[in-house]
Amino acid sequence: MRQAGRSLPEYRRVRADVPMLEACARPDMITEITMQPVRRYGVDAAIFFSDIVVPLKAIGIDLDIKPGVGPVVAEPIRDADGIKRLREIEPDDIPFIREAVGQLTGELGNTPLIGFAGAPFTLASYLIEGGPSKNHEHTKALMYGEPELWDEIMRRLASITVGFLRTQIEAGASAVQLFDSWVGALSAEDYRASVMPYSSWIFNQLSEYGIPRIHFGVGTGELLGMLGEAGADVVGADWRVPVDQAAERLGPGKAVQGNLDPATVFAPWEVVAERTRDILARGRSAEGHIFNLGHGVLPNTDPDQLQRLTEFVHEQSAT
Ligand code: CP3
Repeated sequence: MRQAGRSLPEYRRVRADVPMLEACARPDMITEITMQPVRRYGVDAAIFFSDIVVPLKAIGIDLDIKPGVGPVVAEPIRDADGIKRLREIEPDDIPFIREAVGQLTGELGNTPLIGFAGAPFTLASYLIEGGPSKNHEHTKALMYGEPELWDEIMRRLASITVGFLRTQIEAGASAVQLFDSWVGALSAEDYRASVMPYSSWIFNQLSEYGIPRIHFGVGTGELLGMLGEAGADVVGADWRVPVDQAAERLGPGKAVQGNLDPATVFAPWEVVAERTRDILARGRSAEGHIFNLGHGVLPNTDPDQLQRLTEFVHEQSAT
């Protein structure tokens, strides 16, 4: 459950006087915040506490994460000069990542740690738009109108992403998730032509490690097959496509992850239980199924409801 921490009082306490990106650069904080949902809920895996923009900040891009807004970039990147600012990432840029992953693998014992990074399209959108965007208009203008610049920005971002993931894997992460959160804004043709080659390259670079690779985006019903084809072992689906249909779209050899609508946990428990039972039943037709929310935990979520949900999924999966 991404951003599960946000709804927890213990998270708010730890973060009270520390800005998000500062917290992401302090190994003690990363470790503590990563452990919080694991301790409280006993989930089957931990997701590393960081953010998709951390590697961009680490190579010197001036950006911040504004509460309630998301990543905001001081000078959006829209031309060749701007793209040159996207240099390769070196292990020395992110020593805190290595240190935190090392601490966590010790603390977690047998619970796997999922490392992650943003995919090139989603990172490009933040950099080109300068912040969160509904329509991604500057991003699409560059993609359609200046294919050589697009290729350059996507190559550079893919390389940064691989560097960020390698650091996590080599320090001990046992699976990785590539978040292409906003790629559902594209048509299937545009995805295949202008995005998939770069995400494929990333998955290829990681194949040598032999660890599970998860690929996720929001609103990707029409793209699910290609998210698998790009080289992932597991594809995350949001709640718009039932899990059994998602599995069908993925075809053989892939597992599916998802997909309870995060807003559902605001409904009475009986509704949550019924929807969850349905998702688990549908998941049985897939080659593999990881139960999860279809997107991140919403900030006002009641932690007790998540606790009940975790227990329920464990009970139901044991039978
Ligand atoms: O549970 C965890 O802590 C997992 C770590 C995690 C964070 N961000 C921490 C975070 C992960 C996996 C992410 C990924 C991320 N970040 C994505 C891809 C996943 C997705 O949800 O689609 C994206 C698009 C981002 C960019 C980003 N960072 C957004 C949209 C936001 C939320 C802005 C808001 O306040 O609504 C952030 C901030 C952020 N990243 C928070 C956390 C815990 C909230 C910080 C806070 O307010 O305390």
